[in-house]
Amino acid sequence: MASFLQIPDDEKGHDLNLFCVPKHYEDDLDRVIIPHGLIMDRTERLARNIVQDMGGCHIVALCVLKGGYTFFADLLDYMKALNQNIDKSVPLTVDFIRLKSYCDDQSSVDVKVMGGDELSALTGKNVLIVEDIVETGRTMQTLLSLLNKHNPKIVKVVSLLVKRTQKSSGYRPDYIGFEVPDKFLVGYALDYNEYFRDLSHICILNDNGREKYKK
Ligand code: IMP
Ligand code: MG
Repeated sequence: MASFLQIPDDEKGHDLNLFCVPKHYEDDLDRVIIPHGLIMDRTERLARNIVQDMGGCHIVALCVLKGGYTFFADLLDYMKALNQNIDKSVPLTVDFIRLKSYCDDQSSVDVKVMGGDELSALTGKNVLIVEDIVETGRTMQTLLSLLNKHNPKIVKVVSLLVKRTQKSSGYRPDYIGFEVPDKFLVGYALDYNEYFRDLSHICILNDNGREKYKK
């Protein structure tokens, strides 16, 4: 099973005042649960594991928008750095797909797929799906069944976060950054109704923020 850094349920996190948080969000967050630096350090190691496992041939990195974009950019930077310093480097190309399954802080059964190149371009390719967070696993299972119709050669999934939740379908990605408590998290491109993507650290949303940015 994929190894990961476990953030325990009783993790207190860190006082917001110890970090730089945008002024407009100061009243909307409880605590910093994963500081940006720790995200970067863990991402660097995920990049190494992925290049070791998949680095034999051309990789198509598929970013799941919007939440995956920051992690995608940082992960690819680390993968590129490794790739340009090894003897057998491989081409790394990118694609994007947009999925939507959330309103307020509730995941819905209905997963919408929008945008991206023709998935048929992925036939015969080694695909790395890059996602921000897996909760029930429904979004990823929907995407995987869609993708598998086009017969890619290999599909691997990396998710920065996996939530420990009763709602999980049991699906686990191939690579996991952190396993996190069953709380609504924002920051580092994770959003609440589109807000908080412009926050560097992963934080716990408080009731004030939940109310303020409710749809
Ligand atoms: P799933 O289909 O239940 O696994 O949900 C996955 C999607 O829901 C993710 O790609 C996120 O976009 C969103 N999501 C789940 N939990 C959170 C959270 O705590 N904060 C922000 N978005 C979340
Ligand atoms: Mg997502």
